[in-house]
Amino acid sequence: MGHVGDTLTYAHIVGWGKYVPPKVMTNADISKIVDTSDEWIVPRTGIRERRIAGPKESAFTMGYAAARAALDKADILPTEVGLIICATATPEHTFPSTASLIQDALGATHAGAFDLSAGCAGFVYALSIGAQVIQGGGHQVILVIGSETLSRITNWKDRGTCILFGDGAGAVVLQASEQRGGVLSTLVRSDGSGGDLLIVPAGGSKLPASPETILRNQHTIQMDGREVFRFATRVVDKSTREVVEKAGLTLDDIELFVPHQANLRIIQAATRALGVDESRVFVNLEKYGNTSSASVPLALCEAVECGRIRPGDHIVLIGFGAGLAWAAATVQWGPPPEPRKRTVREKAVRAAIYPFAQIRSRVLRVWYRIESRLLGSPKPTSIDKDGKKK
Ligand code: COA
Repeated sequence: MGHVGDTLTYAHIVGWGKYVPPKVMTNADISKIVDTSDEWIVPRTGIRERRIAGPKESAFTMGYAAARAALDKADILPTEVGLIICATATPEHTFPSTASLIQDALGATHAGAFDLSAGCAGFVYALSIGAQVIQGGGHQVILVIGSETLSRITNWKDRGTCILFGDGAGAVVLQASEQRGGVLSTLVRSDGSGGDLLIVPAGGSKLPASPETILRNQHTIQMDGREVFRFATRVVDKSTREVVEKAGLTLDDIELFVPHQANLRIIQAATRALGVDESRVFVNLEKYGNTSSASVPLALCEAVECGRIRPGDHIVLIGFGAGLAWAAATVQWGPPPEPRKRTVREKAVRAAIYPFAQIRSRVLRVWYRIESRLLGSPKPTSIDKDGKKK
């Protein structure tokens, strides 16, 4: 919570949404590509299948679908959103940001937008920033998205990594409220000395794309699985305790823990270290594998959908991964969003807003091309010897 003037402002999660590609890849399917088996994968990871983005699906399309579902759940119009943060390790492009593409497609015409890169901790990082912007009075409504197409940066010849990852997206809507609750405490941390443990070496400014980088598979995920495993179990335990204490609570007050869905063994080890019962830890990685920054919002959505989170519950979200980076948040779940009474005109606006956003985007794209042809380049300004513009 934060002070705005004399009142305390809280950031509540009032909408949630997810999208997963329809294409399922089972462990049996993977065993046709690399030398592995369901019998090897399940006991070591808990993963049985994952979703793989189709040719027309990407971080943008999936993030958009999840964001739209979250706005619909909150009954909030995209024009009411002040900021869009998209956590992703697999952005649509280096730039523009995936968040800006989602902003345009939603028709969120009053929103700022940026991507956030913090590996699999990205969503919880973004939630922490979004909550603090709301608590500081910066915005009333913020969309926080995690969207990933990890299948596009997976080395499908490396059985040590390709079994782990999947694609998907999740999103939440944060809204300012004077009612106590919402995001109660957050924590973000990093240890860049472990950067090499989980890395896509090429494609950035150090190693731009070249025939050599492609031949060496340097545009795909490289991981020291054992070290990442040790790091993960360490930080989940420590950061969970810290963030719960920061919220003025104890572990006993937490109804549900929603950790990053990387590996069942990591979650089990952390659960043992925390001394909490497995029934209080949400797991859905058997269906999706590790979807990086999409995994926490995907798990959160499913936990709400299946009734594992109820109004008033305290929950802890934990993310960890490449960076190394990790983050945690304590959230008190609020009551379900009150359905707003809308006039006929407002209902008509609501129904038309997304088709209109598409038309607006197309028209503007065409206009930028026409404007560029008609007006050409801006004339260079020259300055005479007296320093005056000519
Ligand atoms: N199928 C069959 N055998 C496999 C295999 C697979 N998919 N992957 C690795 N192996 C083999 C290795 O080749 C090696 O064989 P060898 O002993 O003959 O050389 C053996 O299994 C052990 O390999 P290792 O990499 O040491 O396995 P591991 O016990 O550490 O398990 C992981 C690998 C990836 C399951 C495990 O390290 C892990 O879960 N790490 C955390 C990863 C993670 O969650 N990362 C994301 C965090 S955000």
